[in-house]
Amino acid sequence: MSPERPWKTQGGPHVKPRRAGRKRKPPAAKPPGKSPATAPQGLVRINRFLSMCGITSRRKAEELVLAGKVEINHAVVRDLATRVDPAHDRVFVGGTQALPVEGHLYLVLNKPKDSITTLSDERGRTTVMSMVRTRERVYPVGRLDRNTTGVLLLTNDGGFAHRLMHPRFHVPKSYRVSCDRALTQSDLALLRSGIQLPDGRTSPAEVQFIPQGRGKEIGITIHEGRNRQVRRMFESLGYEVLKLDRVAYGPVTKEGLARGGTRSLTRGEIRTLKEMAGYTEEELLSGR
Ligand code: URA
Repeated sequence: MSPERPWKTQGGPHVKPRRAGRKRKPPAAKPPGKSPATAPQGLVRINRFLSMCGITSRRKAEELVLAGKVEINHAVVRDLATRVDPAHDRVFVGGTQALPVEGHLYLVLNKPKDSITTLSDERGRTTVMSMVRTRERVYPVGRLDRNTTGVLLLTNDGGFAHRLMHPRFHVPKSYRVSCDRALTQSDLALLRSGIQLPDGRTSPAEVQFIPQGRGKEIGITIHEGRNRQVRRMFESLGYEVLKLDRVAYGPVTKEGLARGGTRSLTRGEIRTLKEMAGYTEEELLSGR
């Protein structure tokens, strides 16, 4: 793509704590570039730069800028039109240096039961992060309940994660549900058409009985990602969910992955997920 990505050769974690000790001469007090009509080659708009560092989506990055949390060369910037020279400018977010990642990581974990989808836990419970060994930090795309098993995506591509979770894009997620009693035909129809929950009606779902499941094993695909959505749908109809396993997230399954195992997504899976998350052809081609 365009020659404006030489910074991609930097390695290491995508953010690096600012070192206390040795004082470095600050770079010449060059004000960060304002947005001219045509940007000089290599300059990147601040929100895009932060997204390329895996910090957050471009939209959320704008909020960080407006909140005065972003410094370039030791000066707070609040102008969204500010451009960064990745080769020379030093950008900090909340005191931590933002460094563009060498390449994005996209993983799938087959989450085991009794593990939590947080980065750390004060109570010492097992977190999904303890199962992922990567040079660069990755973050879960959304959450799975502690006792839900199966497909959990992890990435350091903040924009990608944000778009996958955005309700506008309806990325399908499929679950296998084990209930305490057989689902009735009328409840099957209700699940399909939508269930009224306290936070609104669920959108239509694909639901079917799993063969040989005696009516208690159900496959359901939803296109939203509300908190505890599948459990709440079944509970609202009076069923107890005994087991919940996410078998697919878009095109990604856990086939062949042991519980607690991870693998990188294939190029094809990443592309399909990006298409589902509304990436334009130009974005797909540029790898943004
Ligand atoms: N729906 C739930 O109820 N729980 C999950 O973990 C995921 C979807």
